Amino acid sequence: MQDFVHPVDILVEEHRKISRHIANFSSLLDSPGEWEAAIRNAAQLINHDFVQHERREGILVAELERMMGGKIGPLEMVEKEHRQLDSLRKRFNKALDKIDLSQVNGDDPQVLDLLEIGNRLVWAKKSHFFKDERFLFAAARGAIDDEKLREIAWKMESM
Ligand SMILES: [Fe+2]
Ligand SMILES: [Fe+2]
Repeated sequence: MQDFVHPVDILVEEHRKISRHIANFSSLLDSPGEWEAAIRNAAQLINHDFVQHERREGILVAELERMMGGKIGPLEMVEKEHRQLDSLRKRFNKALDKIDLSQVNGDDPQVLDLLEIGNRLVWAKKSHFFKDERFLFAAARGAIDDEKLREIAWKMESM
């Protein structure tokens, strides 16, 4: 029996947790009175939870890349989405810089712009999870031996 948590299980659990936060963020968007909280939630999600998850997932990606001899097939596609999500994250942060969070005004086009980018990003992230699970994680489950899996799990847990 395995004496460690499978790295893929660690990442799938993070997907679930982040998905719940995304649903919360979206429900806050329904009432403009909650937009300040929505923006703070989104910033935490995008700049902390997403980044932390990508760093953990990156360990698995690096190992698969090493085994496959480069970014090929599903790895290339998944990595392309990671780059697109990262450029949306940069746009979100640029828009965030222009806003005074202590006085969020629902008529301010910059606030609407920020919420639009944030909303697009979190839902793109959620749909990306499907690809991680369908391609990346499926490949990782079959291809990596226990010794390596234990090492990856250890690295992930110590981040
Ligand atoms: Fe992921
Ligand atoms: Fe991913």
